[in-house]
Amino acid sequence: MDKLLEVENLTKVFSFGSLLSRVRITAVDDVSFYIAPAEIFALAGESGCGKSTTARIILGFEHPTSGTIIHSGQVEAKNEKVWFTEGIQAIFQDPFGTFNPLRTVDSYFFETVRNYKLAKGRADAIDLIDRKLKAVGLSYEEFAGKYPSEFSGGQLQRISIARALLTDPKLLIADEPVSMVDASLRMSIVNLFKKLKEEFGVSILYITHDLATAYYMADRIAIMFRGDIVEMGTVEEVLMDPKHPYTQLLRESIPEADPTRRWAGEIKLSDTEQDDYLRQGCRFAGRCPMVMEICRQEAPPDYNVDGVLVKCFLYSNE
Ligand SMILES: Nc1ncnc2c1ncn2[C@@H]1O[C@H](COP(=O)(O)OP(=O)(O)OP(=O)(O)O)[C@@H](O)[C@H]1O
Ligand SMILES: [Mg+2]
Repeated sequence: MDKLLEVENLTKVFSFGSLLSRVRITAVDDVSFYIAPAEIFALAGESGCGKSTTARIILGFEHPTSGTIIHSGQVEAKNEKVWFTEGIQAIFQDPFGTFNPLRTVDSYFFETVRNYKLAKGRADAIDLIDRKLKAVGLSYEEFAGKYPSEFSGGQLQRISIARALLTDPKLLIADEPVSMVDASLRMSIVNLFKKLKEEFGVSILYITHDLATAYYMADRIAIMFRGDIVEMGTVEEVLMDPKHPYTQLLRESIPEADPTRRWAGEIKLSDTEQDDYLRQGCRFAGRCPMVMEICRQEAPPDYNVDGVLVKCFLYSNE
């Protein structure tokens, strides 16, 4: 199968504190997954589970402690950032943080066009910018000469997506792209991501707390808990028939709105607990309703349950 991006055995250890009370956190622990061309892959889990760290390593903002990132079958050479900047673009949570309030938004577009030599002259540049804005439902006339404060959060997030599209990226890394957008505008951004995938073949790594939008938008999903991928498969399999006790808990923490099984609301579980990181055996053992003796002694391996990866001893004899 064609793989646009492969993440292999990615691990990131952070250590902090003083010499005497040094704390090490394995923010990402031996994580492997791939993203196919024109695929939306969701990475979901509660706060602090390692989603953004994974994204930052893929973007080249952070070095992994170990592991490999493979782009279209090629391991990224050290200090070689071309693929990162042109082939991958990032969309962040806060669209207002993306743009300086004292600069017109169009200046960012012209800057990107100049930096990557995307156009021959000003008319050519405007034409390109207009095309990318139209792809997100806006136009050049609507935005020329305006400052960030003249747009709503939803519009500004569309604008940051249009800017990311200037270089024709193959992969967008969207870290909580709708969590700060007004709830009423959220679905329009989610639909925009779907359109980018369907019409332009863009792949998206969609990072979220929100299983509802992940279910609606993504093809496959990985559920992370304390640095581990505990379950991974198609959204249909993982979210409609969750196998890992943690996925089941996440799934239950979201009220089912109606019989068509659409979800509302977001996951809100406890914050980072150091105990989970330091725990021997399964990191979820302290909270797992199905915990067994072995879970406290050994870390579970990945089991393949009908094509779904599940990191849980419950499936050891299947
Ligand atoms: N630069 C850093 N130094 C030390 N610890 C860090 C650093 N960056 C992240 N961490 C820790 O690594 C863990 C994972 O953080 P990360 O930001 O990847 O989580 P996340 O899943 O994106 O959470 P959220 O949903 O809140 O954005 C957390 O415990 C966090 O405190
Ligand atoms: Mg994050």
